[in-house]
Amino acid sequence: MIYFNNAATSYPKLEGTAEAMAKCLIEPPSNLYREDVTQPSTIDRCREKIAGLFHFSDPSRVVFCSGATEALNIAINGLARPRSRVITTTREHNAVLRPLYYLRRSGDVQVDLVSCPPPGILDGNRFENTLTRETSLAVVNHISNVTGAEADIAAIYSLCEARGIPLIVDASQSAGAVDIDFSSMPLAALAFTGHKALLGPKGVGGLIVGRELDLRVWKSGGTGIRSDLEFMPDAWPIKYEAGTRNEPGIAGLAHSLGGILARGLLSVEKQKMGLTSHLVEELGKLGVVAVYSERPEKNRSGIVCFNIDRWPAADIGYVLKDVFGIRVRTGLHCAPLMHRELGTFPDGAIRISFSASNHHDEVDELLRALKTIVGRT
Ligand SMILES: Cc1ncc(COP(=O)(O)O)c(C=O)c1O
Repeated sequence: MIYFNNAATSYPKLEGTAEAMAKCLIEPPSNLYREDVTQPSTIDRCREKIAGLFHFSDPSRVVFCSGATEALNIAINGLARPRSRVITTTREHNAVLRPLYYLRRSGDVQVDLVSCPPPGILDGNRFENTLTRETSLAVVNHISNVTGAEADIAAIYSLCEARGIPLIVDASQSAGAVDIDFSSMPLAALAFTGHKALLGPKGVGGLIVGRELDLRVWKSGGTGIRSDLEFMPDAWPIKYEAGTRNEPGIAGLAHSLGGILARGLLSVEKQKMGLTSHLVEELGKLGVVAVYSERPEKNRSGIVCFNIDRWPAADIGYVLKDVFGIRVRTGLHCAPLMHRELGTFPDGAIRISFSASNHHDEVDELLRALKTIVGRT
């Protein structure tokens, strides 16, 4: 089996990740009570690694949850102000769009969409022109999960900061793929997920919250400490981590983070860019392929999106999987507005997404399979 669906969830995971999770299940639970601070827990060690990865100085403001979807819900619902406007873009995943649509439906906020023409370019001027005096929150995807197009987060942050507008960054595709410096964004929150480029298990992710931001509590419940209080204890990160956390998942993530930090992000980026340019160059030679993704020289996350002639994307996906044993992802990729921008709505497109475990010969095998399919059209 050849696996090219790493933007959905990465495979294989780093060696030792499963064992780190199993250890957590086999050994007696540590730090049963959250006030037991005699030794740093697996969870706190992972918090420190996450802070290190994003060059962020305060691990206590790393909040763990089940993934980027939950992190974005915590951030959006915790920061959107009633009777105000939220600015976002057409390159967003439904993990951003749907929480915003729910808020809009309840009459609480208006949503302003910045159009991002192919391959999903977020233009600073267009963003600035869409800001209004009522804009109280911005939500922006760092790297498109459809095209790999990258937003200039530092520039968008400056525009927001100058107006005192908090910025939520959806780093689902960029965390673990490219270096992200979160040290100078006190008015931003960054949502990450563990099971994509961070090579960890599903069901773990989190939110990093800049030091000038305070979130309304969106999820409340038990914390194991201060059970006498009616409301959540007013302390980071516990205020935002109600309920029992996914300790095996966090242990797996801590392990994979160690591997990623040891290998270095640049070498992963270089390998994926090599595969991307090889694939795009060869796809061009097929003649009947429309490629929608970011150009290889700017495509750091290894996402290639295309369609073949008049073939429905879903059919190609089935043939690749069932006949050739190659796993890709077809359809709308939970990003319907991005596909409208590309002109590929509602059928979507075929997406290949690489990890550092993929090799040139696997790309060649995909190309041979596509040539066979094209030859039969
Ligand atoms: C851009 C983007 N945002 C959010 C998500 C949701 O991430 P999670 O699976 O961690 O909830 C994804 C996952 O596909 C994504 O690609």
